[in-house]
Amino acid sequence: MRILFICTGNICRSPLAEGILREKARAMNLHIEVDSAGFEQFHVNDPPDERAIKTGRKYGIDISGHRARLFGTEDFKRFDKIYVMDSWHFANAMAFARNEDDRQKVDYIMNAVYPGENIPVQDPWYDGMAAFEKVYHQLDKACEMLISLIGEK
Ligand code: 4NP
Repeated sequence: MRILFICTGNICRSPLAEGILREKARAMNLHIEVDSAGFEQFHVNDPPDERAIKTGRKYGIDISGHRARLFGTEDFKRFDKIYVMDSWHFANAMAFARNEDDRQKVDYIMNAVYPGENIPVQDPWYDGMAAFEKVYHQLDKACEMLISLIGEK
């Protein structure tokens, strides 16, 4: 199983999702490939936002080694599932899709918990630590569901 998370800058939400899912897989001894990417180039090659690193660290997740990268069409070849945070990412990812197979790979991450509701994980960039905390708990809930589904297979 190869899973990709996408957000806008690849420095807050998707690196946290990646770190959380990787830790859950490790704890369950499941071998999966996890990565993350973004759509905006402002932060390419940057480490995650300090607030995201700090929030992860609070829960034992170290995302400091991640470096931001852009999403591209080749990611549809590399990954089985591609999870987005909000409707803008969803539309963007769909625009990169080559065919129906690719389109089927894309879903909102929170649909793992609330199927079909397309609930966003909102951008915490302009907000304080409380927003990062909220994002962390949303992502943790979603990743818990994802890992239990993967574990059943
Ligand atoms: P992310 O947060 O998409 O969760 O990584 C953002 C980071 C940077 C920007 C927007 C969102 N930005 O506009 O630079």
